[in-house]
Amino acid sequence: MTTSEKFPFDKTPQTDFSQVPSPCFVLEERLLRYNLQVLRHVMDEAGCEIICALKGFAMWSTFPLVREYLPGGTASSLHEAKLIWEEMGVKAHLTAPAYREEDWPELEQICSHIVFNSLNQWNQYRERALAAGISCGIRVNPQYSEVEVDLYNPCIPGSRLGTTANHIGDRLPEGMEGVHFHTLCENNADALERTFKAVEDRFAPLLHQAKWLNLGGGHHITRADYEIDRLIALIKYIKSTYNVQVILEPGEAVGWQTGYLRAKVLDIMDSQGINVIVMDASVSAHMPDCIEMPYKPKVLGAGDAPQTGRTNNEVAPWRIGGGTCLAGDFVGDYQFDQEPQIGDPLIFNDMIHYTMVKTTNFNGVQLPSIGIWKEEGRFQLVKSFGYESYKDRLS
Ligand SMILES: Cc1ncc(COP(=O)(O)O)c(C=O)c1O
Repeated sequence: MTTSEKFPFDKTPQTDFSQVPSPCFVLEERLLRYNLQVLRHVMDEAGCEIICALKGFAMWSTFPLVREYLPGGTASSLHEAKLIWEEMGVKAHLTAPAYREEDWPELEQICSHIVFNSLNQWNQYRERALAAGISCGIRVNPQYSEVEVDLYNPCIPGSRLGTTANHIGDRLPEGMEGVHFHTLCENNADALERTFKAVEDRFAPLLHQAKWLNLGGGHHITRADYEIDRLIALIKYIKSTYNVQVILEPGEAVGWQTGYLRAKVLDIMDSQGINVIVMDASVSAHMPDCIEMPYKPKVLGAGDAPQTGRTNNEVAPWRIGGGTCLAGDFVGDYQFDQEPQIGDPLIFNDMIHYTMVKTTNFNGVQLPSIGIWKEEGRFQLVKSFGYESYKDRLS
């Protein structure tokens, strides 16, 4: 069964955007609760632990809600670990390519699990980690990933993400309790099955010795077509075959389709036959994955249009661009139901995960505010950013 078959849900926006300042990331609380309920279902049915990856979703004003459903979070740095400790009230899981000596005094206090990327790193910090009672693991590289974009593929030759089988052999180093792999990105359960097969082929002896196995992130569990029962069956198989505790650490699945970036049309111009909108947000500074991945977000009230300069269409397409000097700071071409006017709102859908964690102050552009459309039907402005947040990052 897929997620939407098991948990049908109407995701039509309920936010009244006229109450939301521009630009602003606005999360709909009910949409986040929906995702959390789905994730909790997997946890309960499969008997695993699902923790939130802050790299993808770190909107900490919602952490009390997240904690109603999930037991904690996973960090990629001291700062994310601190945020988990402070705002989730639990010790963090931590996985990073390498650790800084100077971070250790704090990490020892606030981490329950630390995953090492290499045996060098393990040998460097082993004594400290064990003395602090931290449960340690090794990130392995199964040399199998179905991710097509190299930018997100941790298994390409030259990858620094994880230890390959030839370097670790058949025995978990003494004192180590866990194995971790992360090779998925927006994948369904079938890709996890094939990936896990590659992990078994290369690392089965380690799995038999481990207390826990972390399956990383990239599980698109809350997406409508995700095969949720298939995931649950696989986790049960892993648990019974290897007698390990199973941990998943999705980020995107927590924030998936939970809200919007509300922006506004500042200007409209004709550029060599193409209608162009300049908005009060920036693609490169506020939604950089659209350029990096790349992908084209949905805009409410607008349809997709091929990126061309054609003006002989019945309705000419509109190219939406940001307010920076970067020529490529645009998101693509759209057909609008109603011709855009200066001052009109522009609502980008699904703009919560991997957006506010990645914003920059390039060009000194205004950072979008952060707000919540509450379940009881009112807007709560959580934070807005001014000149100080720009100045603070420079000297
Ligand atoms: C080690 C690790 N864990 C978890 C995640 C979260 O992945 P996602 O947000 O795609 O679920 C990532 C993402 O890059 C990662 O590198």
